[in-house]
Amino acid sequence: MSTVGIHDLELATTHHVLDMADLAEARGVDPNKYVVGIGQSRMSVPAPDEDVVTMAATAAAGIVERHGTDGLRALLVATESGVDQSKSVAAFVHGMLGLPTTVRSVELKQACYGGTAALQMALGIVAREPGAKVLVISTDVARYALETPGEPTQGAAAVALLVTADPAMLAIEPIAGVATIDVDDFWRPNDSSTAVVDGALSMGAYLSSLTAAWDDFAARGGVPIEQIDRFLHHQPFTKMARKAHMSLARHVGVKLPAEAMESGLVYNRELGNSYTASLYVALASMLDAEDDLAGKRLGLFSYGSGSVGEFFTGIVQDSYRSVRRPEADRAAIENREPVTVAQYVDLHRTVLTSGEDVDTPRVTRAPFRFAGIRGRARRYERTGSAA
Ligand code: HMG
Repeated sequence: MSTVGIHDLELATTHHVLDMADLAEARGVDPNKYVVGIGQSRMSVPAPDEDVVTMAATAAAGIVERHGTDGLRALLVATESGVDQSKSVAAFVHGMLGLPTTVRSVELKQACYGGTAALQMALGIVAREPGAKVLVISTDVARYALETPGEPTQGAAAVALLVTADPAMLAIEPIAGVATIDVDDFWRPNDSSTAVVDGALSMGAYLSSLTAAWDDFAARGGVPIEQIDRFLHHQPFTKMARKAHMSLARHVGVKLPAEAMESGLVYNRELGNSYTASLYVALASMLDAEDDLAGKRLGLFSYGSGSVGEFFTGIVQDSYRSVRRPEADRAAIENREPVTVAQYVDLHRTVLTSGEDVDTPRVTRAPFRFAGIRGRARRYERTGSAA
């Protein structure tokens, strides 16, 4: 059988950005705690007319423009910041992109792991029907309450992946190691717009999940660690990926060079946590930063609190340099408009409920915007074409 995997990738983020040094100053904390201690420089902050739907549609629009919709059989959207308990983000995005009715559309959730679950489902669909294409979108806004330890680990982004046979970017190998462990380390109750977290427990749960997923990967005949050239770990903050890398090396009993994961940290340090999208932001970061990855094997660890972890591998394809889009990815990050801490606090406090009709102010420059609520239903507008 031919290979299956990621054929194209596009990144989107928010209109605004907050500098972590400004947040540290406002919170009376040494900026080095955020910049060095947790490893974050800035975080994305959504404008009032942006949400997970607009970011998802923005990320996917470019892929649809480049590849069309022929053969597109599914649109799988992973998020833990869903905007409705019933209608999926996928159904909104399907309409906004004008996709054919023959594309099945669904939303998936298991904290930050949902994007990897969607990717595995997409690989299954394509393996069964090699001419099929699947759009997988991971989109999230990480929100913790103001003035809590989680506050500097917020952020937002979406990553759209086109999954096909004979992919141009990354062929995903069939063996994966999985660990599902029921734990209350991080969750978001239905009546809360911010997450509840036990920080220390969550870091321990993440690392236990990594070693358990690795053990399952090894038991199923996964390649020895020496045959993995680069590592990408879920990044709630970039220091966590460093901790994961060291923990995996200790667990397996080998020395893993720190450089084997550095290039995957660049974008997350700028965007903050983007939950489901974070691992795929790291993938974009690594593919954009390194020119000699063709033929190299990447090891990817996806973690979603609650918890599910998965370790899997992929081989970078020879053509990755012709399909990656480093200028566009960097532009999405660099074109964000800075906000002051006071503006960020105002934006954070504005949580719309569906009880009243609302028109949102026009702020975002993205090709889609959240226009407001009418008759309890969310309304979206297309305002431009993909970048
Ligand atoms: P905290 O308790 O305020 O921070 O919150 P701390 O005191 O532990 O310090 C953090 C680091 O900064 C430490 O480094 C300090 O030493 C260092 P470490 O020892 O860990 O290497 N530090 C300094 N460094 C330089 N100069 C200084 C300085 N001061 C301190 N002056 C915590 C940290 C991560 C707990 C908090 O931000 C939090 O609760 N975040 C949210 C939870 C989280 O991200 N958990 C990660 C694992 S769970 C996960 O990844 C899933 C998730 O993405 C959700 C999902 O699945 O949906 C979150």
